[in-house]
Amino acid sequence: MVPFLFGQYKIFFPYDKGRKHAYSSRYDLISATTSLKFKYMKKNLFPSGWYYMADSKTIKKGKIKPFKYFDMDLALGRTSTGKIQLFKAHCPHLGAHIGLGGKFDGEQVVCPFHGWKHTLDKMCDKGLKISSLPVQENWGKVFMWYSNDHRAPDYDVVPLDQLGKGHFTLHTNTLIIKAPLVEICENMPDLDHYVYVHGMKDTKFTKMDIKKNTFEFNFKIDTSATITKDLKSECQNTFYGPGIMWVNLTHVFQMKSSVTLTPIDANTTYMHQQIHIPKLFNPLKLLSLYLPLCFIYKKEMKKDTVLWENKIVGGNKYQLLQESHIFKLRNWINSLVTPP
Ligand code: FES
Ligand SMILES: [Fe+2]
Repeated sequence: MVPFLFGQYKIFFPYDKGRKHAYSSRYDLISATTSLKFKYMKKNLFPSGWYYMADSKTIKKGKIKPFKYFDMDLALGRTSTGKIQLFKAHCPHLGAHIGLGGKFDGEQVVCPFHGWKHTLDKMCDKGLKISSLPVQENWGKVFMWYSNDHRAPDYDVVPLDQLGKGHFTLHTNTLIIKAPLVEICENMPDLDHYVYVHGMKDTKFTKMDIKKNTFEFNFKIDTSATITKDLKSECQNTFYGPGIMWVNLTHVFQMKSSVTLTPIDANTTYMHQQIHIPKLFNPLKLLSLYLPLCFIYKKEMKKDTVLWENKIVGGNKYQLLQESHIFKLRNWINSLVTPP
């Protein structure tokens, strides 16, 4: 992640690393296709759910930081008593960005421009108000709630601390990808691509379960060509909303992985990916399997990224039976957007 320096402050996201693209805008690509399955991308609407913002430890008491997600300027901070707070960044007085120099004084937000103090969600004596946005912390991470119809969350962030119990985080990989959220999500149930892009031998569908806010998809894989001999496993993937995916790799791996995807705007997505391994691991396994796996993960992710950043939104119906999974995921994500 390359921070953009703004005076003494850092705006963390987004930052276009200046990658060269064949088209100037993702919209050009989308409008060039006839199958506009993702109508909301043009309208800048995103599917509802919980989305990763930052690690909890980076948001210190009394401090406020600037973020840009969902094409919105946001300010995330922690009150003097330790409560995490998220709100739209611009001050209702004369519009200063509170994430750039603002702070908390007790429970009140202090604007850096004229020093006005705002108690979140309460009208100040001048009749102005800053509303807080839903935010939750779990497993040392801060998640924000997004819903295009501004409805309050109807479920909590998935308890990652429970899912990751007995594991510790070995590896973190972050990427800013010039592709819409949906393109990246669709990678997971695309069984054939594991063979042709990632060199795995066999992929065999085992289970799919779609609920209102979750999409579970499991398959068997043989990674012997990519990693080492005879590594068969079941890959159990669950999306808890489109922004949080949890992966269990069974058998010899006994490993978990979390992937969070947060739209920066309609064409750009921030990915935060971690590998979690059992706390009681065999040192030999660490050297022979887990550490090489971290490199492989990174390398394979680059191959996916090149595809995501340069493909168009393809197809409006599936050609092969196993592709129906991709379309089910596409429809599930679309169902999380309230039509405007
Ligand atoms: S702009 Fe915030 S106090 Fe004036
Ligand atoms: Fe992939």
